[in-house]
Amino acid sequence: MSSNFQASLKSYNTFGIEALARELVIVQSLDELKKLLPRLRTEKFMFLGGGSNVLFINDFDGLVVINQIKGLKAESINGNDADVSAMSGESWHEFVLWTLDQGYYGLENMSLIPGTVGAAPMQNIGAYGVEFKDVCIQVDALELATGALKSFTSAECEFGYRESVFKRALKDQYFIYQVHVKLSRNSPIKASYGNIQDVLKTKGIKHPSHRDISNAVIEIRSSKLPDPSQLGNAGSFFKNPVVLQSQAEALLMKYPNAPHFADGDRVKVPAGWLIEQCRFKGFRDGNVGSHKDQALVIVNYGGATGQEIFDYSKKIIREVQKKFNFVLEREVNMIF
Ligand code: EPU
Repeated sequence: MSSNFQASLKSYNTFGIEALARELVIVQSLDELKKLLPRLRTEKFMFLGGGSNVLFINDFDGLVVINQIKGLKAESINGNDADVSAMSGESWHEFVLWTLDQGYYGLENMSLIPGTVGAAPMQNIGAYGVEFKDVCIQVDALELATGALKSFTSAECEFGYRESVFKRALKDQYFIYQVHVKLSRNSPIKASYGNIQDVLKTKGIKHPSHRDISNAVIEIRSSKLPDPSQLGNAGSFFKNPVVLQSQAEALLMKYPNAPHFADGDRVKVPAGWLIEQCRFKGFRDGNVGSHKDQALVIVNYGGATGQEIFDYSKKIIREVQKKFNFVLEREVNMIF
């Protein structure tokens, strides 16, 4: 365990914001975390994994706990299926690649999602037609108040679109230390989402393997989403609004070409499209702007403060509301 005072968080958040924490502690085992429990019960704190979904608006006057607890395991359930587990401080993408190496499939569509394994159940990460909840068997967590270990079934995690019980009713009450997913040697190939088909076609791949899907997703993500080491960002800044049928119909009356996707009895409208219509795509305001290839991503051109990014996001929300009457919700966690 290592700690220091007035620690810079710059290398611990993919926006590259120059915020300071009162103290920063790195934990590499569950035992190290248990030793911190008395402090977590009395002091202001936050857990941080890859820092790829946070915006530090101010310095953080508390303890930041960086999770670097590692470990990967695959246990065969029967001939084809496995209970594959990962400790929460593992890199999500490294985990996905490891499962592919083991010949257990189901995570390939979620290749290259930044962040750690622990973030996956927290916000039910998802991409290219697959969400964490589709593969989740169990989430193991430590209750901060009692130090007890508790396992949550997938249903108990109350997963929704970028939502879980850990962000809502149980917020700040548990530390997720391990996840279990059900993967299979013969998991179906999912190639229908977005432009996965186009990429496969360009490569002349007619019968894609799971590895081909992973490579296609990596290619699409790298071409559209900026690399945080080059340009600070936290992926999608907003959630896609999920609206009533009647609201979608009203939108389509006015904008017949508006992209939209059925989501149960509601309709998901891409926030990127709404933001682009408000002319923010590629727009730059000082140190902050909207990415040129994906309007849903806010970027730090260098030296932006968290407050500047927050103010810019308010401007986007205001303009989208004015034009479409939809209120965008932020997907990134604001840390005040
Ligand atoms: N679009 C535009 N302009 C833009 C961006 C998007 O018109 O600037 C429209 C296009 O019509 C496109 C549609 O929006 O067809 C959807 O765009 P895309 O496939 O890029 O996905 P998204 O809905 O913008 C979501 C997730 C991403 C995930 C992708 C792929 C959310 C908030 N975001 O984005 O997740 O990678 O789908 O599955 O649900 C993240 O959560 O940080 C993230 C990057």
